[in-house]
Amino acid sequence: MFERIGVIGSGAMGRGIAQLFATAGIAVRLYDSRPEAVEQALAHIRETLERAAARGRMTAEEASRSLACMSAARRLPELADCDLLIEAIVENLEAKQALFRELEAVVAVDAVLATNTSSLSVTRIASACRHPERVAGFHFFNPVPLMKIVEVIRGERTDPQLIERLAALAERTGHFPARTPDSPGFLVNHAGRAYGTEALRILAEGVAAPAQIDRILRDGLGFRMGPFELFDLIGLDVTQTVMESVYQQFYQDPRYTPSHLLAPRLAAGLLGRKSGEGFYRYANGDLQPDPEPSAVPVPIVRPFWLDSREPGIRRQVAAVLAVAGAELEEGAEPSESAICLVTPLGEDASSLIARRRLPVARSLALETLTGLDRRRVLMRHPGLAPEALAQARQALAADGVPVEVINDSVGFVAQRVLACVVNLGCEIAQRRIASPAVLDRAVQLALGYPHGPLEFGERYGAARIARILQGLYRQYQEPRYRTSPWLRRRVQLGLPLDTPEDQSLSV
Ligand SMILES: NC(=O)c1ccc[n+]([C@@H]2O[C@H](COP(=O)([O-])OP(=O)(O)OC[C@H]3O[C@@H](n4cnc5c(N)ncnc54)[C@H](O)[C@@H]3O)[C@@H](O)[C@H]2O)c1
Repeated sequence: MFERIGVIGSGAMGRGIAQLFATAGIAVRLYDSRPEAVEQALAHIRETLERAAARGRMTAEEASRSLACMSAARRLPELADCDLLIEAIVENLEAKQALFRELEAVVAVDAVLATNTSSLSVTRIASACRHPERVAGFHFFNPVPLMKIVEVIRGERTDPQLIERLAALAERTGHFPARTPDSPGFLVNHAGRAYGTEALRILAEGVAAPAQIDRILRDGLGFRMGPFELFDLIGLDVTQTVMESVYQQFYQDPRYTPSHLLAPRLAAGLLGRKSGEGFYRYANGDLQPDPEPSAVPVPIVRPFWLDSREPGIRRQVAAVLAVAGAELEEGAEPSESAICLVTPLGEDASSLIARRRLPVARSLALETLTGLDRRRVLMRHPGLAPEALAQARQALAADGVPVEVINDSVGFVAQRVLACVVNLGCEIAQRRIASPAVLDRAVQLALGYPHGPLEFGERYGAARIARILQGLYRQYQEPRYRTSPWLRRRVQLGLPLDTPEDQSLSV
């Protein structure tokens, strides 16, 4: 086990890493090329721990014991007796390589060098060292003490035993070690690419506004934050850099294509919270929410017809229509005046209405994959009569559940975002970047998703996810939506998505 840890770089991450290990009772020495940064970091950690003690989250003795574990180094050679050195300096390959070269001249031959880089290749950083086998990635998330996960990244030449030692150290602090090879975005920033990029595709296609997409994904799929809220929180500059970096490192694989919508927003300084405006507006750091649009009341004069035979869905639709004073027809075909609700899966409203030869002006789509309890989504198309839409919207909101109206899309909003998240998770498992269990846990801990990608797939049905992807692929004819072999095989064989594969082949 490690006895003395040197942390180089005392910014947002360095101070969090130092606090984490000091709280676990390990001696930590903090260094920064700007000595005042170390002083600021130590003062910040002191304040944080004292506040935690005052609030009863730790005892006063624990706080002072943790503080006693920390010290400042004014020069790099003062880290000579550390057995683990973790760098959290500026995100620049040359700077990190130069630092590791300098450190190798100072520390013991068996000391371990770890990098907290979020986007650079661990192998490339290590390539500057005389002993690349002692270099690994140790990628924490911000804020370090609260985000209970760290990626332990194996460079091409990293000693496998080192990965186990770092993983054991992480576990000692209560953090989950996600072991992963050195690949673009590592595990978490790779798995996180689907959510935002698909939301941007939906926006770029004119399907729905950012606030609508956020509401649908929060209420429909249980995400804590919508993708546009997340862009604003992280900062569009940071998001764009990660998106571009992963996309380029995978040689422009269309699964990761960033959106053309971002560059002009960046140029305009619409970075998000930190600049006061992004996809939303902020005043003194507080979101200024736009009220949800309300519809003008209309008389409901038409009966409704629903294409779904699913009893639960029919019951719920009939119940809300009853509140609205409207009838749900039971016939196999709609009557002459009925508003027809179709429930497509991986298809847009136009295709399904045309295929079923339903009356264009009176037919629209209702999202049912995500249930009807928290928010309902109606999808219109270019031929829909405004009076039919107005009646459908009003009738489906009669019990107080909000209704979102979006434009035609293959897979509404939730279906296609969900399918892309699950598909990318499957691809990550297929490429041996993580086992199913590690992938799901890491994504939940680091990205705050309500479920990991594979668990998400199981909850909504892997066969349905595959059908949505096939629909997207057929309509757009883009390799972005190609189904991962991991997903396809498990659907074909009727196996759960977390069915593992031989892991002995490390890719
Ligand atoms: N901020 C995040 O959310 C986050 C999350 C995960 C990983 N990371 C990674 O962690 C690293 C640090 O990020 P941060 O947000 O803490 O940055 P930061 O700017 O807050 O802090 C960096 C610190 O490093 C110091 N520094 C720069 N060059 C140095 C050198 N050659 N030697 C010693 N000190 C030097 C700077 O003075 C500064 O105090 C980066 O590699 C970043 O990609 C950041």
